Amino acid sequence: MRSRNDLVDLARQAALNAYAPYSRFRVGAAVLGSDGITYTGANVENAAYPSSSCAEANAIAAAVSAGVRKIDAVAVACIDAPTPEEAYPCVRCRQIMSEFSVDEIHVTAGPGSLVKSHTLDELLPHRFTL
Ligand code: THU
Repeated sequence: MRSRNDLVDLARQAALNAYAPYSRFRVGAAVLGSDGITYTGANVENAAYPSSSCAEANAIAAAVSAGVRKIDAVAVACIDAPTPEEAYPCVRCRQIMSEFSVDEIHVTAGPGSLVKSHTLDELLPHRFTL
């Protein structure tokens, strides 16, 4: 099992591949599947703004597309944000995390930034499930 710092480093690396010409806000995510394998994603924007996708959603889609159904941890790195407070996952991504039973979320920002860790219950209490 990878450490928190390994997952955060992978998220930082993934952010370098972000396609963010509109917002100039690069985000990378790395997820640890219950298979022990890590998957990554970056935000991919579109001229038709709502057709853009978030880094976390893309990383989770990569894991699920490989057969993963349980994700133990997610790291997100908003490398153009000054502090983790500006780097928390959007609510749509939190709901996507809920679908795959994410336990822990690690959030970081630009170089030298702290890493803040939370449970999904902290970030999305009373969430919708079927
Ligand atoms: N973004 C993410 O990738 N993840 C989030 O949780 C919030 C926002 C992206 C979407 C868009 O490409 C850019 O950050 C600015 O909103």
